[in-house]
Amino acid sequence: MKDTSDISAAPVARPRRLRSTPAMRRLVGETSLQPRQLVLPAFVADGIDEPHPIGSLPGVVQHTVGSLRREAATAAEAGLGGIMLFGVPREEDKDATGSCGADPEGILNRALAAVRQEVGDDLVVMADTCLDEFTDHGHCGVLATGPRGKTVVDNDATLAAYAELAVAQAAAGAHVVGPSGMMDGQIAVIRDALDAQGHSDTAVLAYSAKYASAFYGPFREAVGSSLQGDRKTYQQDPANRRESLREVRLDLEEGADMVMVKPAMSYLDVLRQTAELSDVPVAAYQVSGEYAMISAAAEKGWIDHDPAVMESLLSIRRAGADIVLTYWALLAARLLREGWGAR
Ligand code: PBG
Repeated sequence: MKDTSDISAAPVARPRRLRSTPAMRRLVGETSLQPRQLVLPAFVADGIDEPHPIGSLPGVVQHTVGSLRREAATAAEAGLGGIMLFGVPREEDKDATGSCGADPEGILNRALAAVRQEVGDDLVVMADTCLDEFTDHGHCGVLATGPRGKTVVDNDATLAAYAELAVAQAAAGAHVVGPSGMMDGQIAVIRDALDAQGHSDTAVLAYSAKYASAFYGPFREAVGSSLQGDRKTYQQDPANRRESLREVRLDLEEGADMVMVKPAMSYLDVLRQTAELSDVPVAAYQVSGEYAMISAAAEKGWIDHDPAVMESLLSIRRAGADIVLTYWALLAARLLREGWGAR
């Protein structure tokens, strides 16, 4: 038999020392989560009298303008960083070019004005700058007939529509516009239009690395999207990492004030790389499908809801996000207020 008596059983290092008590763990925790880093995405629908639940996003509603105002006030009181608004027009107001998006009387612009009046400068008010909520075909841009009679999303015609949309949102009161349609050149065109119309203080949050993701499923219900087909000719292929480096770099060159990666949890590698590349704040969007997954598993008793939520948010921060858009922003702010981070 082999003699093992001279092999020391003592580990060379003991990392467990730094995990020994809650106070020690608090002292050495590398990443923190604070309400100011969180942005609450919120939906506002036209033609409804009371908030309307969204089946696939339990706890999230389509707001009326009135209930959205109260939600924004709550968000400001909770110390959140911002609120990101999505408009849900009536079916009859949708058309091929999404014209009700830029209409000052359109649902999103009315909501922006009401929210801005409510919170002033106490909360950063953001708007989704995209056409998909407003078009009858559900695409993020305007359609054209391309080569061989194929229907395509027309990049450059869409840019003009985005410029109009962004200016209308800034005029309505948005501090930040968030182009999410993945059209080439969108940041430059929007920046130029805002500057030309006297909105040089309005910031642009670029959805720079936005993937064609199955995790947007519940969002499509939330906005009553009528999309047929997919967005693979403009949103990125989940197979690609390097491509997002290029997208981020282009948006920075075009003048983005903040850049975003979306979705968050399946793209933490892209987020880390973006954080290393970017010299402006980096955001990540924990999307509807990510919310739905944890909610559904918790509902079934398969996962412990609050710890799973907080762990997911912390991982997104750890990967490099300065700012996290999450439907759990208010929940997380409450848990943090109750001392979550100190555990
Ligand atoms: C496009 C937009 C989408 C989301 C935010 N902005 C949908 C899409 O690209 O298909 C998805 C957000 C989520 O899933 O929570 N305007």
